[in-house]
Amino acid sequence: FSLKNYNTFGIDAKAKEFVSVHSVEELKKVLKENASKEKFILGGGSNMLLTQDIDALVIHVAIKGIRIVEQDEDFVWIKANAGENWHEFVLHTIGHNFGGLENMSLIPGNVGTTPVQNIGAYGAEIKDTFVSCEAVNIATQETKVFTKEECNFGYRESVFKQELKGKYIINSVMFKLTKRHHKINVGYGDIQKELEKQGVTTPTLKDVSNAVIAIRQSKLPDPKELGNSGSFFKNPIISRDHFNKVHSKFPDMKFYEVSENEIKVPAGWLIEQAGFKGIRVGDAGVHKNQALVLVNYGNATGKEIVDLSKEIQKAVLDKFTIAIEAEVNII
Ligand code: EPU
Repeated sequence: FSLKNYNTFGIDAKAKEFVSVHSVEELKKVLKENASKEKFILGGGSNMLLTQDIDALVIHVAIKGIRIVEQDEDFVWIKANAGENWHEFVLHTIGHNFGGLENMSLIPGNVGTTPVQNIGAYGAEIKDTFVSCEAVNIATQETKVFTKEECNFGYRESVFKQELKGKYIINSVMFKLTKRHHKINVGYGDIQKELEKQGVTTPTLKDVSNAVIAIRQSKLPDPKELGNSGSFFKNPIISRDHFNKVHSKFPDMKFYEVSENEIKVPAGWLIEQAGFKGIRVGDAGVHKNQALVLVNYGNATGKEIVDLSKEIQKAVLDKFTIAIEAEVNII
């Protein structure tokens, strides 16, 4: 079974066996019946790079549904099942004038995988509006609700990438969104500029979403047209001492202060300065508008993309003495 249409990088890896599940009951049943088999869980396939065939039962989580669990005058508690497309869910919330997710418009992938790496963009992260998620224990098929604290969110991090890696399948996520007094957040990057360009002075949720969509479309490739997984690397966080040393050599280096002693440096800048922006090796490449994004021009293998990523890591390390780490899950 080819997984080419199930991963946004468009890698033609094969699964030994494949099943799509459409409800929690079905998911539990499949887990139980296949207890002894190796299993591999697939959501939207938007944050993985397949470098080999999957010698396992691939379980594609396609559980759909969105519902309001509770609301008062100010807030709504809304639950989306794991198989909902993230961007469609965001548009659904904006359509109901529920605020909080608009800055995360157009992020590829499904709802169920958003907590795994605490997705974020343009000054917002999942953890800002996340209430809890429900997940099925792969070994016991028991359902557990994880609170925000239990998820242990960090920058592109959570418990599901750490101690609980491979142990649970998230089947739904609940968010708390605003019904009024929305916290419109246009402070990040180019959002304000984009709104001005569109002649918007008091932006609505929809305006913010549209601005984010316009910015993303201008620099991030559409996976339907050009295979990719968004940012391939995380932005490295380095100590102030380390930063001072590098910055004195490269005064143009962009940076954000994360805390007193932690400085985040944009990996896209480092990669561009190392000379990789827009390069192409066979069908593997670095996107021309955003050096943080690796792309598949058609028939690249996962290995070719990984090889290119290693070359980039080495060049960045040699030039800046900064190690950059993959954000994408390499399988
Ligand atoms: N930059 C360059 N060259 C490039 C790309 C970026 O010099 O080729 C510089 C930019 O000029 C800017 C800085 O790097 O000063 C940061 O760039 P940008 O604001 O585009 O954001 P990013 O750090 O590249 C992060 C997230 C994105 C998210 C954007 C917007 C990570 C790893 N990536 O990218 O997330 O959309 O901020 O919030 O944190 C994703 O995770 O898949 C993703 C796309």
